[in-house]
Amino acid sequence: LSYDILVVEDNKENQDVLKAALAGASVNVSVADDGAAAINAVNTGVYDAILLDLELPCVSGMEVLSHARSQAPLTPVIILTGSHDVRLVVEAMNKGAHDYLTKPFNIDQLMLTLERAFEFRDLKNSATIAERLRQFAVSDDAVIGTSQVWLETLARARDFARSDLLVFLSGETGSGKEVLAHYIHRHSLRKDHPFVVVDCGSIPDSLVESELFGHERGAYTGAETSKEGLVELAHGGTLFLDEIGHIDLRFQQKILKFVETKTFRRVGDTKVRSVDVRIIAATNKSLPKEIEAGRFRSDLWYRLNVMKLDIPPLRQRPEDIPVFIEHICRKFTHNGQRTTVSPAALQALRSYAWPGNVRELQSTIQRALAVSFSGRIEVRDLGLDGSEAAASRRSPDAAPSPALSLRDVEKGHILSVLRSMEGNITRSAKVLGIGRNTLHAKLKEYQITATGG
Ligand SMILES: Nc1ncnc2c1ncn2[C@@H]1O[C@H](COP(=O)(O)OP(=O)(O)OP(=O)(O)O)[C@@H](O)[C@H]1O
Ligand SMILES: [Mg+2]
Repeated sequence: LSYDILVVEDNKENQDVLKAALAGASVNVSVADDGAAAINAVNTGVYDAILLDLELPCVSGMEVLSHARSQAPLTPVIILTGSHDVRLVVEAMNKGAHDYLTKPFNIDQLMLTLERAFEFRDLKNSATIAERLRQFAVSDDAVIGTSQVWLETLARARDFARSDLLVFLSGETGSGKEVLAHYIHRHSLRKDHPFVVVDCGSIPDSLVESELFGHERGAYTGAETSKEGLVELAHGGTLFLDEIGHIDLRFQQKILKFVETKTFRRVGDTKVRSVDVRIIAATNKSLPKEIEAGRFRSDLWYRLNVMKLDIPPLRQRPEDIPVFIEHICRKFTHNGQRTTVSPAALQALRSYAWPGNVRELQSTIQRALAVSFSGRIEVRDLGLDGSEAAASRRSPDAAPSPALSLRDVEKGHILSVLRSMEGNITRSAKVLGIGRNTLHAKLKEYQITATGG
């Protein structure tokens, strides 16, 4: 096994010293002479570690660091620095550098630092995990909404963020649970550390444990190498256990233990490991109902239910709808053309029940933008079931017809979309603005049998 490292250093002499030092070890060294070359190398290559001189001409080392952090978040960056610039080192560490070496350093120090870096992120094993690690653009304007209800939700989220306790988010599909989880992370002391999403709903039951806790070589057939789990990747940061209601009853016991002690064992390993993470959990299921049905452990529920944040569904904050529309229109229209929404269409959008919440609103507007040629979205462009009639019938804040429960409306809407998509699940899910798994779950819930894709 050999490691690939990238040395970013403009000084030829220093380059040679490093190359010579690493020649004996099984390390392949690539050299970038300046920041631009380094950014290029990060874009095109995969490295197990990057040694980065901070004082570079033109493109600064700090820029290279930021680029590497966003493009290759799993690659540890080790800063090389002259002893005088402590402030720069602090800045670099805050920006996510893994470690630093002060020049002049000796070979032992170098090797020790590199070994620690390799150990920390055993990149050879984590290529698949890299795909699971979702990166967010860290900016506050990613969170939209100006309604009183929403602003209160955000304020509570910020309060929760200040503590290091488990936060439990509940809310309907598409209401912004993941958005809020990341918001809490950004407002917490762990904000400069990883935010790792584990979508328990989309990982098959048989793989959840090894995805989460990792496994040892030979733990099961096909486990040719040992692999670190997502909990280890989240070390220092926040672990977001999404759709925790989907976790298999048998595995819930281990999750409970982990939540309580932050210790775990890799599959097939006897060693107990521990990590330092803040946990955020979320679900769109009603856990009390799951408990009643014997599918969820009540002791785990008591653990989760301490700091609970209920995310209001979109229909409870219709004031946010125009804000979202404006944002979506701006994002998806090009060359400065302005899109407007007719008053009737806006009325229809405001009175619709939005079972798929913000996600459904997004896909509805995107679709309307695609089919409206006039630069103005009309009711017919929305493709909302019955919205044309509703828009002419309803007064601004009228409640939906009392004869229909929300479930009826949702079931009917799902059926009509399925019909118009000829039973194609993938396309129907897209139109509804929910994931395929969520759609499958709803079909099961409403006992709808779908034919086709
Ligand atoms: N307040 C918000 N500001 C900006 N975007 C939002 C907001 N709420 C939701 N969204 C967007 O709506 C979509 C759904 O949000 P998110 O994934 O957070 O929902 P969720 O509650 O996790 O849904 P699910 O239960 O289906 O996983 C995403 O594209 C997200 O960016
Ligand atoms: Mg989600």
